[in-house]
Amino acid sequence: MARRAVRSTPVGMINTFRSVVQFEKLSLDPVERRLRKAASVEDFRRIAKRRLPHGVFDYIDGGAEDERSLARNSTAFANYEFQPRVLRDVSALDTSTTIFGRTVAMPLILAPTGFTRIAHSQGELAVTRAAQRAGVPCSLSTMGTRSIEELAAVSDGDKWFQIYAWRDRGLVEELVDRSKRAGFTAVWLTVDTAVLGRRERDVRRGMTLPPKIGPGTIVDGAIHPGWTWDFLRNEPITFANVVGLSDEDGSTAVNLAEHMARQFDPALSWDDVDWLRSIWDGPIVLKGIQTVDDAKQAVSMGVDGLGLSNHGGRQLDDAPAPIELVEPVRDEVGDAATIICDGGVRRGSDIVKAIALGADAVSMGRPYLYALGAAGERGVDQMLANMREGMERTMALTGRRSVAEIDRSLVRRRRR
Ligand code: GLV
Repeated sequence: MARRAVRSTPVGMINTFRSVVQFEKLSLDPVERRLRKAASVEDFRRIAKRRLPHGVFDYIDGGAEDERSLARNSTAFANYEFQPRVLRDVSALDTSTTIFGRTVAMPLILAPTGFTRIAHSQGELAVTRAAQRAGVPCSLSTMGTRSIEELAAVSDGDKWFQIYAWRDRGLVEELVDRSKRAGFTAVWLTVDTAVLGRRERDVRRGMTLPPKIGPGTIVDGAIHPGWTWDFLRNEPITFANVVGLSDEDGSTAVNLAEHMARQFDPALSWDDVDWLRSIWDGPIVLKGIQTVDDAKQAVSMGVDGLGLSNHGGRQLDDAPAPIELVEPVRDEVGDAATIICDGGVRRGSDIVKAIALGADAVSMGRPYLYALGAAGERGVDQMLANMREGMERTMALTGRRSVAEIDRSLVRRRRR
């Protein structure tokens, strides 16, 4: 009774209030404020959606046709559940591993993405620096908006170059040669893009790259001033690797599907894999393997890595979710190739699932583009730190101390 009486005095009430209320320190830094709200990749996506012009966001976020592969790439991870082991002393955890003989801080490679600078003016430079700090390899696309040499100048971390087979093979040879000279350590050959998938969000918006200025884009730009200010203050976006080598270097707006149809070679075949081997002696990863049969064929031709990928659901809709392919491909090829599962990875726990099923590493594109669009380079740093922490947390909660301990018994298909 007496206690209650004290509490009901004004001073008592103020003391009670003080004991439970804590004022969050207000940050004057808008990027910091955004970072505090980004606990997951989905949060970065939501913030990027708010900040980026609709056309830009949809180019990054969208997939082919009905976007079923896009959706399944992520939801397929939920088909697997953990069988955690307990009481295993997880006080020391190690997420590091090796990919093509090189040590990485975790089994994650940043996938190549076209037109990265539309998410943020720093583009691939920001991504490359963040990747180096996180100790993971990053990749530069043939359709990249920073050059091979620019990347080499900002980071001596592991860098991979991605090849789209231009009709002009001399140009590809030159890009491969430049990658070699710049110290890139591996190449991806993208094999799922004989023609460009129909990304209907882009079709509806009449999307070009870079975005063409018209009444629609002016309104879009005006209601997203942060992005527009960054875009206008910086040098124009181009396909930085082919400036001076191709008449279509991105300096004038191009429709992506038409550009790809003009420049890229639908006649690409297995013979070209041999050709690539003749001009590049480092690891070659085929990006876009979607069946066990093609995995087998790639291995029989001495390919070093299999990129199980449907191009983030941007090419053939209803292509299989890469995570579902990991186990059958590993069963077929054994240790003959490095397996990289690309598509739908959104959490550290997804990395653990892919490794348990037999992958050597995963790769991902959209998560870093969302982070870049939401909060620039610091966004990519935070997203990668979240991935690493998520992987560590999952390892701790499942009783696995190292990547080698993440074995097949860790996951099973969920019973419906
Ligand atoms: C480029 O590779 C794209 O998927 O847009």
